[in-house]
Amino acid sequence: MVNASAGVGDTKRDRQVLICQNRTCLKQGSAAVLAKFLAVIRPNVTVIPTGCLGQCGSGPVVLLLPDKVWLHSVLQKDVPAIAERYCLKK
Ligand code: FES
Repeated sequence: MVNASAGVGDTKRDRQVLICQNRTCLKQGSAAVLAKFLAVIRPNVTVIPTGCLGQCGSGPVVLLLPDKVWLHSVLQKDVPAIAERYCLKK
């Protein structure tokens, strides 16, 4: 997991969690990461399975918008802490 940027904790803007579901990330467990995000994220945050995000060597890759926070090598077990840190939790 990497990166933290401005805007973290801002709950007023529309939030999106993009999770790569393309080939390489799928092999690295991105389907489980997607399922875990869907389980722990609050309803007003949109979870979007995507195609390749262009960071295949560091998957599973997650992009938090609008803050443009890139997370790499995300594991299913990391998701609750990510949701907590970025104020996405139910
Ligand atoms: S396959 Fe996930 S970033 Fe390319």
